[in-house]
Amino acid sequence: MEQQTGHLIDAAAELIARSKRTVAFTGAGVSTESGIPDFRSPGGIWSKFDPEDFTYQKFLADPGARRKHWELIRGSFSATARPNPAHYAIAELGRMGKLECVITQNVDDLHQRAGSQGQKVFELHGNLKWAVCLSCHERYSSDEVARWLESGVEVPDCPACHGVLKPAAVFFGESLPVAVLQAATEHARACDLMLVIGSTLTVYPAAYMPVYALESGARVIIVNLSPTPLDRDAAVLIRGKAG
Ligand code: APR
Repeated sequence: MEQQTGHLIDAAAELIARSKRTVAFTGAGVSTESGIPDFRSPGGIWSKFDPEDFTYQKFLADPGARRKHWELIRGSFSATARPNPAHYAIAELGRMGKLECVITQNVDDLHQRAGSQGQKVFELHGNLKWAVCLSCHERYSSDEVARWLESGVEVPDCPACHGVLKPAAVFFGESLPVAVLQAATEHARACDLMLVIGSTLTVYPAAYMPVYALESGARVIIVNLSPTPLDRDAAVLIRGKAG
C-alpha cells in the first residue's frame, strides 16, 4: 500500500507542478486530524445528531432547536483545534504561487489559521467565527458567545435587541452566500487542476465545484479515506489521509 501511495503522490505532484491554475476544494475530512469530527464517517457528527434537527427553519422556529445547535457547536468545534499538515501544505502551495484559491465547505477557519490568504479562501458554508443577530444584524465573535455559553446561557440572544442570534455558518435549508458561491464557481470553471480533499461530495451546491472543474476539462486529484461519486473521474485517486 505504502509503495503504491508513493507512486500516486508522485503522480499528483507532477500534475501540480505542471498546472497553471490549481484550486483546492476541501471538506470536513481535511480537519479530522485537527480533532474536529467530520459529518458522515462512522462516529461523525450526523451519527450523534439528527441533521433533520439542524435546518434553518427549525432554528428560527424553535428555541429548543437553537439550544441543540449551540450544544453541537460547543461539542464539536473546539476553539482549541489547530491546523494540521494538510492545512499547512495547502497554505504552502499558496505561498509558492501554485494555488489560485481554496474553496472550502468547512466553517472552522483552519485554512486561514494555517496561513492560506483570507481573500483566497472561499467559505461556501460560512464560518463559526461569528454569530449574527437576525433582527438588527449586529455581529458577535464566537469567543464572546462561547463565554456566554460557558457561563450557562443555553440559547444566547442578541444583547443589543434580544433578537435571535445565529452562528454565521450556513444551515441546511439556508442559501449559500451568493458572492462567495459565484466567485468559487468561476474559479472552479477556470482551473486546470482541482485538489479535492476530505469530502463525500454529497452536499450541493458545494459538491458541484469538482463537477464544474471536470466539465471545463480540468484534471481532478482526490484525496479521501472513503469512496466518492467522482472517484472514477479522478486523474489521481489517493485513498489515504489528508495530513
Ligand atoms: N483524510 C482524508 N479523508 C478523510 C479524513 C482524513 N483524515 N477524515 C475523514 N475523511 C473523509 C471521510 O472518509 C469522508 O468521505 O472525508 C469525508 C468527509 O465527508 P463528510 O463528513 O460528508 O464532510 P463534507 O463532505 O465536508 O460534508 C459536506 O455536509 O453536513 C454538511 O455543511 C456540512 O459542510 C458539510 C457538508
